[in-house]
Amino acid sequence: MVEKTRRDAGRAWDKFYKAHEDRFFKNRNWTDREFDELREDTPNLVHGEEPVLLEVGCGVGNTVYPLLEKNAKLRVHCFDFSPRAIDIVQKNPCYDQHRVNAFIHDLLDGQSTQVLLHQLKQRPNWPPVSTLSIIFVLSAIPPQDQVRMLRSLITAIPLGATVVFRDYAHGDLAHLRFHTRKDAQWSEPSLLSDAHHWYRRGDHTMAYFFSRDEVERLFAEAGGVTGVVEEVVHTKVNRKTSTIMERRFIQAQFVRIDT
Ligand SMILES: C[S@@+](CC[C@H](N)C(=O)[O-])C[C@H]1O[C@@H](n2cnc3c(N)ncnc32)[C@H](O)[C@@H]1O
Repeated sequence: MVEKTRRDAGRAWDKFYKAHEDRFFKNRNWTDREFDELREDTPNLVHGEEPVLLEVGCGVGNTVYPLLEKNAKLRVHCFDFSPRAIDIVQKNPCYDQHRVNAFIHDLLDGQSTQVLLHQLKQRPNWPPVSTLSIIFVLSAIPPQDQVRMLRSLITAIPLGATVVFRDYAHGDLAHLRFHTRKDAQWSEPSLLSDAHHWYRRGDHTMAYFFSRDEVERLFAEAGGVTGVVEEVVHTKVNRKTSTIMERRFIQAQFVRIDT
């Protein structure tokens, strides 16, 4: 079952975007507040040039478009393995090929680094990538492939570039929902591994929940970066039921270094 879920991940995400189009995820308007690297006056630019973002598993562009709107100098390479998601990115009224290079690519492609470097060359006049963003994507990758995926990405960016990361943490509301009866009705939870906090949603996409140490270890194993990993907790109160809901995320910032 695990192998099948792994093999069918691309199809599951493509069906997800067929069903939800651009309506499921909200625009991520917070990214430049959380990460200095994504601010309009970006402090850390490789070679002091204009900012270029490489956004991984971009979905329909919920991270990319708010940033493009806020920062007129920004240019973005972005990719996803769902052809439907990339089609929606390219049909966005704000899509401008002078500022966006959106392409289909599978992070687990054995030649991932080479393919990425080839894709980056499709905009030969752009400066090198200054920031790599990995936002809610590592959790969609099976645990046995996570280090390989990170390594292939890190190898594709220049020394001095920054990496920003956010993903689900243990105990996040979405994690707890996999264990509650009520939500079992819609999420059909299926624990894919006893050794990991790894689940399959009802639509057959996968979700993984990380600890801070785990993310630190994954990036250390991938190599080529140094940085800080922290856990972020946002508390919300459900006014109707007076229950407290916690959103828990692991957030990290790294710099690409020589090893
Ligand atoms: C939870 S969504 C996050 C989308 C986007 N980063 C955002 O923050 O809105 C996870 C995304 O990762 C993509 N994804 C999962 N596995 C992938 C892979 N092996 N290669 C490329 N994209 C992948 C999915 O298609 C999906 O769009």
